[in-house]
Amino acid sequence: KLPSRVKLVDVGPRDGLQNEKAQVPAEVKIGLVHRLQDAGLTEIEVTSFVSPKWVPQMADAAEVMAGIRRKPGVRYSVLTPNMKGFEAAVASRPDEIVVFGAASEAFSQKNINCSIAESIERFAPVVEAARGRGIAVRGAISCTVGCPYEGEIAPERVAMVARLMKDIGVQHVGVADTIGVGTPRKVQAAMEAALQHYDLDSVSGHFHDTYGQALGNTLASLEMGVWQYDTSTAGLGGCPYAKGATGNVATEDVVYMLHGLGIETGIDLDKLVDAGAYISDFLQRKPNSRASTAILNK
Ligand code: HMG
Ligand code: MG
Repeated sequence: KLPSRVKLVDVGPRDGLQNEKAQVPAEVKIGLVHRLQDAGLTEIEVTSFVSPKWVPQMADAAEVMAGIRRKPGVRYSVLTPNMKGFEAAVASRPDEIVVFGAASEAFSQKNINCSIAESIERFAPVVEAARGRGIAVRGAISCTVGCPYEGEIAPERVAMVARLMKDIGVQHVGVADTIGVGTPRKVQAAMEAALQHYDLDSVSGHFHDTYGQALGNTLASLEMGVWQYDTSTAGLGGCPYAKGATGNVATEDVVYMLHGLGIETGIDLDKLVDAGAYISDFLQRKPNSRASTAILNK
């Protein structure tokens, strides 16, 4: 039985824009957040408090957070890889912080410059500090199906990282297919691995759509009862440290599928298409979403 309601976290302002070469002004990022919340998104991943040398696009994190007109009922999350990032993020009053690790050693090294074990040691004080302040903590697990450097990743590795995150107090884990190589059964195996340590209400899916499998992977996860997903308006996204990976599955496409399945999202698809068109216009490209293209061409 499929869930009757699904919660989507739009990660467009963060995952979507972190990979853009041209600097997107804070004002445009804020405009995107406003359009997403007006479309009914209740969870928005806004930015990352990471090293500006590593990801220059996110250097304006504090400015973006400060410029948002907060809408009651909307939760704003930010990425924080270490205490330095967390301390910088606190002033921005995020509702949730995201620590991000990986099921692949090589990817962990490339993305956050440390081993999986070291990353957990770095996250532990961040998690403790956040929870002490009543800030929710999510953990992203990258490369749960495949890694750009190591190839296929076994579900046991996902279970191991989920357990390590559980041990340090991470409340929710996101199972990410960073490079979009997953297919439905493999993604289900990765989800099952995370579900060994987290309950169904505390696991979400984060699927990049490189091989066009993300909707199928979403449906396969829905069939397991997973009801929370990260998606990105206009299909923006990618990770600078995962070469060849394209954007996240488009929020528009997922919303279209969910509504067609009779699943509630609280999202107004037409307004969402406008939000995706806004950022795509700025980036001078067409939205990378089939549903959006169809609706705009009607
Ligand atoms: P490092 O170089 O090992 O850090 O980077 P360090 O602790 O040795 O510090 C070096 C310098 O960075 C120092 O400055 C620090 O102050 C500064 P210096 O003294 O040289 O002037 N620094 C910071 N500055 C600002 N904010 C911070 C911070 N930390 C240190 N938080 C580090 C380690 C983790 C910082 C670096 O590797 C980094 O920033 N990585 C981020 C990479 C990233 O953002 N990747 C994309 C997000 S993850 C993703 O997209 C995957 C996801 O979508 C799921 C999926 O699809 O798989 C979530
Ligand atoms: Mg991602």
